[in-house]
Amino acid sequence: IDPTAFSTALLAWYDVHHRTLPWRVSPRERAAGLRADPYRVWLSEIMLQQTTVAAVKAYFEKFTLRWPRVEDLAAAPDTAVLAEWAGLGYYARARNLHACARMVAGEYSGRFPETAAALKALPGIGDYTSAAIAAIAFDEPAAVVDGNVERVTSRLEAIEAPLPGAKPLIRAVVEQLTPTERPGDFAQAMMDLGATICTPTKPACVLCPVRPFCTASRAGEAERYPVKQKK
Ligand code: ADE
Repeated sequence: IDPTAFSTALLAWYDVHHRTLPWRVSPRERAAGLRADPYRVWLSEIMLQQTTVAAVKAYFEKFTLRWPRVEDLAAAPDTAVLAEWAGLGYYARARNLHACARMVAGEYSGRFPETAAALKALPGIGDYTSAAIAAIAFDEPAAVVDGNVERVTSRLEAIEAPLPGAKPLIRAVVEQLTPTERPGDFAQAMMDLGATICTPTKPACVLCPVRPFCTASRAGEAERYPVKQKK
């Protein structure tokens, strides 16, 4: 796959078909110079770790209305944060969230570190989340690989090696494809493609902007990927 041709096709689709989500800056706003707020990007990515976009939206709105800046969240009582989190599940996430807010407010003067490597040192921020924040908020061309992106990529290259063993190969492909221009939009475009077109079952290949690049679709076999290791 020619990375420039691929990202050009994907980003042109994203410009038209991107989902409007409360933590996002639209491509048009971004082009006008508006930047995503790292606090909002971080908060959304923590919430989205084990929860669907549909479920996260209302929680995100409540959190950001009550605590508009990371310093506000840091200053909140533990009990208030846990109470607002109720229903999202995985309560260790809420504790890490609060610890991270306190660290950023206290030790980083309220400013999130701007690289994936530095973000990973914060509580609750691992490989996926550090890459997502670095790409979306700070334009670092980090490879952002979640389940959606694994599925899209395994179909593009018709990867026969089963998951989870194929993860390093998938990551290498995503690293090759990620552009230095608009890496955050590229990451979110891959996620939106996986959520709306390159779905686990019945993918809508006829609507796919990157179908010309997709080996699995060409063979009429998109649904067969990703191959998973039998348990
Ligand atoms: N899932 C995780 N992060 C996301 C994002 N930024 N946009 C859409 N879906 C996501």
